[in-house]
Amino acid sequence: MSRRRQVYEGKAKVLYEGPEPGTLIQYFKDDATAFNNKKHAVITGKGVLNNRISEYLMMRLAEIGVPTHFVRRLNMREQLIKEVDIIPVEVVVRNVAAGSLSQRFGLEEGTALPRSIVEYYYKNDQLGDPLISEEHITAFGWASYQELDEILNMTLRVNDFLSGLFLGVGLKLVDLKLEFGRLWEDEDMRIVLADEISPDNCRLWDVRTNERLDKDRFRRDLGNVQEGYAEIARRLGILPEA
Ligand code: C5P
Repeated sequence: MSRRRQVYEGKAKVLYEGPEPGTLIQYFKDDATAFNNKKHAVITGKGVLNNRISEYLMMRLAEIGVPTHFVRRLNMREQLIKEVDIIPVEVVVRNVAAGSLSQRFGLEEGTALPRSIVEYYYKNDQLGDPLISEEHITAFGWASYQELDEILNMTLRVNDFLSGLFLGVGLKLVDLKLEFGRLWEDEDMRIVLADEISPDNCRLWDVRTNERLDKDRFRRDLGNVQEGYAEIARRLGILPEA
């Protein structure tokens, strides 16, 4: 991986130039950050687990017709992806109150929401990813009305499908964060699901005990972070090779 040209380095991933034009290699690091970089740690094995979990979920989503940037996993820590122009909006969809929603509205964590709630955040570390409305997205030209409509439809479909998939293995999908990008193929442009779907950007609780298996273990110093991620992978039937 180090022989390739680095295109971008994020908090948990690195992007390298891919083997063909229009492709990139997405490398999963073991680094974990929270509270806008104020908290940092290395969780040994996290990158390997997230690579596998994200591969699995992106493939299952592709099977039901959700377009994604994922091409194939290359090795323990890397996957080949299509290069997209990332839309600078983090789309959060929530099924159960937790985290910042609970804080903002004084809702007890674990309260079921009457329906799924979609929120948008402007992807900007310096500003601390502020909460935004559809108006900001269209007015500032981050996405058109039509693109936003597509993003919302895809988000709800992804959430419905993944909620069922996780419930089938005894996990509650409390909330998740999605990112989208514009994929150019010849003259055509379409919106595809990008980034990753992993316990770094979902909340997943055991259905019976409400035990948290996701990144909240790191954020809240609950301990056994890697074990939580491994348990999610084990339930999905995809524990990585030794
Ligand atoms: O912190 P908050 O409750 O707003 O997070 C909602 C969901 O979005 C959680 O699943 C969290 O992991 C995810 N998230 C993320 N990246 C961020 C902020 C939140 O993946 N920058």
